[in-house]
Amino acid sequence: MDKPLDIVVLISGGGSNLQSIIDQVAAKKLNARICAVISNIADAYGLQRAKDAHIDTIIINHHDYNSRAEFDDQLIQKIEYYNPDLIVLAGFMRILSDEFVNHFHAKMINIHPSLLPKYRGLHTHKRALESGDKEHGLSIHYVSTELDGGPLILQKSIAVLADDTEETLAKRVLVEEHSAYPKVIQWFAEKRIQLIDNQVILDN
Ligand code: GRF
Repeated sequence: MDKPLDIVVLISGGGSNLQSIIDQVAAKKLNARICAVISNIADAYGLQRAKDAHIDTIIINHHDYNSRAEFDDQLIQKIEYYNPDLIVLAGFMRILSDEFVNHFHAKMINIHPSLLPKYRGLHTHKRALESGDKEHGLSIHYVSTELDGGPLILQKSIAVLADDTEETLAKRVLVEEHSAYPKVIQWFAEKRIQLIDNQVILDN
């Protein structure tokens, strides 16, 4: 088997996507090693999930820094300590500076709960319902300097049901997120993905 893919996961919240990655690694379906989990929120539940799995945890509270640049510098230093192959944003709720994004060009991915380019930013489920969409879903993409705008790697759509609420829709999208994200990370572990001239190339 290839060397495991070293990843650092960035979170701000509950970390259910992080949990799905931890579980797939434990089940040996994802050939990765989670070197560290970094959160900008001190009491993010995802940190507990990481501790339970004996993964290094780091808190970098953005309130402790005078500027975005200082926060991002600290984040870069902490990430580089682990020298990861891939940086995985999993519910990380901070906008990153262009300098940060360019520093990790082609090495950072994000999962977003909408069918991009629809509904960048927040409240995606609510916006899909308000627009009367028949389909909704998730997108996994490389991170670029444009918010939720980087090259797409994978999308998964689900049907919006007549009686869906924001909560029921979010829940069903999340279930799909939990299988899609580890799958894409495994593609990186298998070296099947490249970003060439801003185009995602996926080998079969
Ligand atoms: C997910 O819906 C993800 O798509 C979005 O933030 C949410 C994180 O959920 N970026 P969790 O913390 O992984 O449970």
